[in-house]
Amino acid sequence: MYGLVNKAIEELVTTGYGEEKWEAIKTKAGVDVEVFISNQGYSDEITYKLVGAASEVLGLTVREVLIAFGEHWVLKTALHGYGALMRSGGGSLKEFLINLPNFHTRVQMIYPQLQPPRFECLDVTDTSMSLHYHTRRPGLTDFVVGLVQGLGKLYHSPAAAEVVALKTEGADHDIFHVTWTLPAA
Ligand code: HEM
Repeated sequence: MYGLVNKAIEELVTTGYGEEKWEAIKTKAGVDVEVFISNQGYSDEITYKLVGAASEVLGLTVREVLIAFGEHWVLKTALHGYGALMRSGGGSLKEFLINLPNFHTRVQMIYPQLQPPRFECLDVTDTSMSLHYHTRRPGLTDFVVGLVQGLGKLYHSPAAAEVVALKTEGADHDIFHVTWTLPAA
């Protein structure tokens, strides 16, 4: 994955827990990279090792780390670094999620070698939908849960993504039942 992803994990850890924890995480992960370059590609293995080591060093489950990372990705990385792109995604949570299938096509203009996930939205109502997540990368289900929660906070529409089908349990791909509350008018 692009270095941007590992840099975002670094930022999540250093801002929330301090530099020393980040150094401890890199050491535990056996990752010997001083500075991650956003637009340089790194092996996915590095990201998985950092998440695993963060879980051990911070005393959190991998699920908790991935959810925190998803929220951080939306509310800090995406919003601060790519505000215009995020705003182009829509004016409400529902609109953003409906546009999600095309979102990484725009991201690909910045990161041409991107191997993006693919999303589909089905059974859409004003406060819920079925979100289908296709990826060739295993283990990132809870990252999506955190991303949806982060988007809910961004749009003042508290949201939850409940897993209803898992690729690891034989489904074709992961499916979430996403629900949210509309912001006060
Ligand atoms: C401006 C905002 C965003 C940027 C710049 C961005 C960029 C990226 C990058 C660089 C990767 C790593 C993949 C690679 O390097 O090949 C990635 C992965 C991913 N992105 Fe985004 N992204 C953004 C917003 C979002 C949002 C809002 C979602 C919401 C669902 C999302 C969902 C994901 C997921 C689930 C992955 C994991 C890869 C996979 O499942 O295969 N991204 N994105």
